[in-house]
Amino acid sequence: MSNWTLIKRIWEFAKPFRKTIGIIFICILLTSVIEAVNTYFLSNIFDVIQKHSNDPQYMTTALMFAALAGIGVVIRILVYRFQGNLEIRKLDIVASNHLNHYSIAKYFNFSNGQHINEHSGVKQNIITSGFQSVQGQIQMFVYHLFPAVANFIVSIFMLFTISSYIGFSYLFISFLFFWGVYKFNTYLQPKLREVRDARNHTARTISELYRFVFLIKNEVAEKKSLKDLDDVQDGHQSAYQRTWIPGNNWLTVIRISTAGFRYLTILFAVYLLFQGHITAGSIFLIFTWSQNFIMSLWMITDMQKQFITDKINIEKYFELLEIKPDVEEIENPISENITGDIEFDNVEFSYPQRKKNHSDKNEDELQPEMVLKGVSFKIKRGEKVAFVGESGSGKSTIANLIRRAFDPQSGKITINNNNLKDLELKSFLKKIGSVDQEVNLFDKSIRENISYGTEKLLTDEELNKISKMARIDAFYKKLEHGWDTIVGERGAKVSGGEKQRIGIARALAKNPEILIFDEATSALDTVSERVVQKSIDAVSKGKTSVIIAHRLSTVKNCDKIFVLKQGELLAEGTHDYLLENCEYYKELVKHQLTNKVTENE
Ligand SMILES: Nc1ncnc2c1ncn2[C@@H]1O[C@H](COP(=O)(O)OP(=O)(O)OP(=O)(O)O)[C@@H](O)[C@H]1O
Ligand SMILES: [Mg+2]
Repeated sequence: MSNWTLIKRIWEFAKPFRKTIGIIFICILLTSVIEAVNTYFLSNIFDVIQKHSNDPQYMTTALMFAALAGIGVVIRILVYRFQGNLEIRKLDIVASNHLNHYSIAKYFNFSNGQHINEHSGVKQNIITSGFQSVQGQIQMFVYHLFPAVANFIVSIFMLFTISSYIGFSYLFISFLFFWGVYKFNTYLQPKLREVRDARNHTARTISELYRFVFLIKNEVAEKKSLKDLDDVQDGHQSAYQRTWIPGNNWLTVIRISTAGFRYLTILFAVYLLFQGHITAGSIFLIFTWSQNFIMSLWMITDMQKQFITDKINIEKYFELLEIKPDVEEIENPISENITGDIEFDNVEFSYPQRKKNHSDKNEDELQPEMVLKGVSFKIKRGEKVAFVGESGSGKSTIANLIRRAFDPQSGKITINNNNLKDLELKSFLKKIGSVDQEVNLFDKSIRENISYGTEKLLTDEELNKISKMARIDAFYKKLEHGWDTIVGERGAKVSGGEKQRIGIARALAKNPEILIFDEATSALDTVSERVVQKSIDAVSKGKTSVIIAHRLSTVKNCDKIFVLKQGELLAEGTHDYLLENCEYYKELVKHQLTNKVTENE
């Protein structure tokens, strides 16, 4: 992305704030002009003193210039106050809120499949650092670049009024300066990308350390984890150092040249003074404005440094936000008559190839392995079916395809004879209640958690009804504040079985057509499992229910069981039918029975 495109993109982002930014710019320009006029008044005092210091008559003139300069300062402060208040009201937090909202809304647009395939810590880091950079750039433009540019223009103008020689030489040196900075950028750009990748790597590591604190402590892996952290952080630091030490040296060369140049022009001005070409007041002006000129140039260099650092963050941020959701809706999607009839017709599916390591970029070139190989089945509305098969056979993949987290590479999935791709995804997902192995709960009340997929918070009456089916009523008595009891971070204050039942109640609260249970009971002990199983049996009556379970005892009474093996559908039928006719199913059952015997022993 070229610098220019990037600035244009940021400007698009700043759309709601353009008017405010415009007004601020005018204020800044005004401040610079007042500053220029003020130094002009002050330089006049010098000239009056130099020429007429023996004549008391001129004292009033000198005092008048001093008074004018004083008024200028007051006006400047008032403009500054107006600008400050405007920034507080219209820009500071407002801009960051706007960007945050925008980023998260975009993030929601990705399909669940895309979320599964990219590391959430990295995404979060790209988004937060990207959006902080966009915000930083907007603020930098407003608070630093505008003043620096205004100051730069006024300085050059003032230097020209003193002497055109001096004016031209400063103009010339600024061209040299900008050329130097441009070269510096070109040199730094690729190295900065390395720094960014190292930083993302660190962010990924850190987010996992926070998330998996239990695991780390249980495995007594604190030392090892901290060592991992140190390694990636050292990598980040050394990439940073490799980039910025030469960068800083180059900046020093530029600074020494400009500062040296300034002293040369001062020497030249002193020469002009003694030759009688300019006055002492002009010398004062040269001191002030050459200093202002240098300061604004250096400030621009510092901003350049910030700009290129931000640029790579912003590039990645735009790149991420511009990724098209891979599950797209057609133009006029169907939102009516979505029922629970599901059909897979010769569905083939493979995941995007997993990377060998995090820096692997050519993952698309690798040949992906088929996870589902021509799978066809029909589930009628209201039927309760199960998918069984060994780990990795593709059961969860089927559940994700039904929820359209991904689209299959070939074949067709239909819901009530409509192609799934033609349905309005949101209306369809509203008809699906899902309970997975890990039920995610917000640190909110049980009422809010159960009502998460519904338009309004459920009333006590509605909750009581649902809770009977989901068997929450059994532990309801224990809840300190009834439905308004807070469940704690990730539901830490309720047991595993209770969590699953809250999950089931949440699925049910949507009054769905289709229920999907993916290993909803597999993390539970046998007693809790039985309770949750009963709740699943109760809620699935009359709804299309898709149950995925390892323990075959839990799916025995399903209307139909589909047996999967390495992505292929081997057989379908009732438990009894499969026991008779499917050798593989018989094996699975036998295997589990033997396991049970060993468990019991
Ligand atoms: N996001 C992913 N990216 C790449 N491959 C994946 C991804 N998710 C699953 N797979 C692979 O796809 C295959 C099927 O996985 P799936 O999760 O559907 O299995 P499963 O039958 O649900 O297994 P389990 O009983 O262990 O949950 C496995 O080989 C798995 O490694
Ligand atoms: Mg699974």
